[in-house]
Amino acid sequence: MNNSSKIKVLFVCLGNICRSPLAEGVFQSVLKSYNLEDAFVIDSAGTSNYHVGDLADDRARKVAKQNGIILNHRARQFISQDFTNFDYILVMDHLNYDAVLSISKDANDQQKVFLFRSFDETNIDDYNVPDPYYGGDDDFIEVMEIVSRASHGFIKFLEQDAKISIA
Ligand code: 4NP
Repeated sequence: MNNSSKIKVLFVCLGNICRSPLAEGVFQSVLKSYNLEDAFVIDSAGTSNYHVGDLADDRARKVAKQNGIILNHRARQFISQDFTNFDYILVMDHLNYDAVLSISKDANDQQKVFLFRSFDETNIDDYNVPDPYYGGDDDFIEVMEIVSRASHGFIKFLEQDAKISIA
C-alpha cells in the first residue's frame, strides 16, 4: 500500500516527550492487534520547541515498556505542513488545540483537529489528557490508561469516518 492511500494520524501535545509519544506508541500497538498497521502512517509532534530532538521522557518510556511498547520517537515541533501531511490531528488538551488551530489556514485544516480524549468513553468533564510532566509515575500510568481507552474509541470512530473494518 503506498502512503497516499493510508490513513495519516498525528498525535500532538506540548513537549512531544510525554503524552503524544505515549499515545503514538499505544495507538500503534492497538493497530497491530487489529492487523491494521500497514493501513496507517502515524507520528507525533509538540506545539513547543522545548525538547526538539529528545527521546520521550524516561517515565513515559518506562510505563510504555511495562506494557510491551518501546518508544523510539524523537521530539519535533508541529508545523503548518502537518495539516497537509495528515488526515487526523489528535491533540491532548485544549491548550494544544488552540495552538494548532492558531496556525491553521482554513476550515479544511480545522476539521482535521480533534481532542483525543473525546474518544475516551470514560471522560466526564474537560476532554484533557492531563499533563504528567510535573507529576510522578502514577500520573504517567493514568495517561497510559487514558490514551489506551481513547485509542480504542478512535478506532471505532474510524470504522465510520474512514470506512476501515476491524475484525
Ligand atoms: P507533554 O509534557 O506535552 O505531554 O510532552 C510536557 C513536556 C515538557 C514540558 C511540559 C509538558 N515542559 O514544560 O518542558
